[in-house]
Amino acid sequence: MSSLVVIGAQWGDEGKGRYVDYLAGMADVVVRYQGGNNAGHTIVLGGKKYDLHLVPSGIFSGDKKCVIGNGVVIDPKYLIDEIKGIEKAGFSADKLYISDRAHVVMPYHIMLDKLSEAKLGDKKIGTTAKGIGPCYTDKAARIGIRFCDLLDKDVFAEKLKAVLADKNEILVKIYGAEPLNYDKILSEYLGYASELRKYVADTTVLIYNEYKEGKKVLFEGAQGALLDIDFGTYPYVTSSHPVSGGVAIGSGISPNMLDNIVGVVKAYCSRVGAGPFVSEIKDDIGNAIREKGHEYGVTTGRPRRIGWLDAVALRYSSRINGFTSLGVTRMDTLEGFDKIKMCVGYELDGKIIDYLPANIKTMEKVTPLYKEFDGWKNTRSAKTYDDLHPNARKYIEELEKQVGVKVSLVGVGPERTECVIKSEPWVK
Ligand code: GDP
Ligand code: IMO
Ligand code: MG
Repeated sequence: MSSLVVIGAQWGDEGKGRYVDYLAGMADVVVRYQGGNNAGHTIVLGGKKYDLHLVPSGIFSGDKKCVIGNGVVIDPKYLIDEIKGIEKAGFSADKLYISDRAHVVMPYHIMLDKLSEAKLGDKKIGTTAKGIGPCYTDKAARIGIRFCDLLDKDVFAEKLKAVLADKNEILVKIYGAEPLNYDKILSEYLGYASELRKYVADTTVLIYNEYKEGKKVLFEGAQGALLDIDFGTYPYVTSSHPVSGGVAIGSGISPNMLDNIVGVVKAYCSRVGAGPFVSEIKDDIGNAIREKGHEYGVTTGRPRRIGWLDAVALRYSSRINGFTSLGVTRMDTLEGFDKIKMCVGYELDGKIIDYLPANIKTMEKVTPLYKEFDGWKNTRSAKTYDDLHPNARKYIEELEKQVGVKVSLVGVGPERTECVIKSEPWVK
């Protein structure tokens, strides 16, 4: 009876997928609790790269139950393709479960995501254009379509009729776009319903029972704390709650069932899309790290913006998430540079501050205060923490000091096995 939550501590793409894949070896159930196919989680097994967007990253670990929780928004076509890809690669999706309460991403969500971004012009958020924001908007507006609705032909037909009439008015009158065809969507989505029906269940009961029966439940966050709709750099955020508070809401368990919370921290920072980025590196070193680390989005292929590790943002992230340990990634990507910087303070109007201003204009005025470190090498050959170069250990120990949380895992390469254990992440 225990759980572990894996959360992106920064702006996403920290390496959550690779740690969920690794930790799934110790778990019985793996649960995604928010986001949708805006997420792109990469797992490398024996030199082969697998990208997951909706299916939990426990799917490559044998007989684990993999749950897509109620807090996730699901594009059914995308999910069907993902399941087929997993099976084609020789893995089984038989133990996949989809919450009957999860909302369905519809074609008008994707269209509206693209059209509203285009309308925003240079003020655009830089979304992944997967319809995620518009789907969560409909959920909050109580006009969303859930999996339990999709599986009931009459309910679905009725709900679609009402909502599509409104959406078509918006598409035509506000955006000057073509209206969508009701019959086409109805038959297409009923087809998806029949393909996915066998996976749909009341997953809240499943997760609760597994936990109470003494099983180990692993929760997989998507995006990152600084993209959270409440705690991120609003409005340059996603539309869900990646933070640990989102686990209970997005999976239907009680907050007192969260036992271990691992914040995944990339050894530097990256961000896709627009929004303030205090420690962004705007010179050649940023480009060098991007190229060395192949820092291009898994979902959209966009180049990721690169910055130095931001300890102020991590202290904030740790406070709102309650990290019990940190899983660091990409120490190998950061090697080979003479000097490495870590942002340890923020300066605003000549004063030192230790918080993230809520006002975006104020946040954009913040300048970083850096601590400098000597570089390291030979990271990938490390099998234990002590094998790491002394300068790499110094960097990690400063990170622990700055954030006030111990490091459990250190990534020295992208493979499942390329991580050294500094302390156990799954303690309770
Ligand atoms: P996620 O969205 O948090 O799961 O992260 P992504 O998969 O989008 O991006 C992380 C990238 O870093 C992937 O390409 C991983 O294979 C890679 N990665 C993760 N950990 C390490 C590491 O320790 N070293 C290296 N070189 N790559 C890593
Ligand atoms: P994983 O799980 C990085 C970003 C987008 C954009 C903002 C809003 O792989 O870490 P959205 O499509 O969600 O409305 O876009 O959030 N974003 C991510 N950035 N990693 C992700 O997921 C992201 N998912 C969304 O780039 O800035
Ligand atoms: Mg990603």
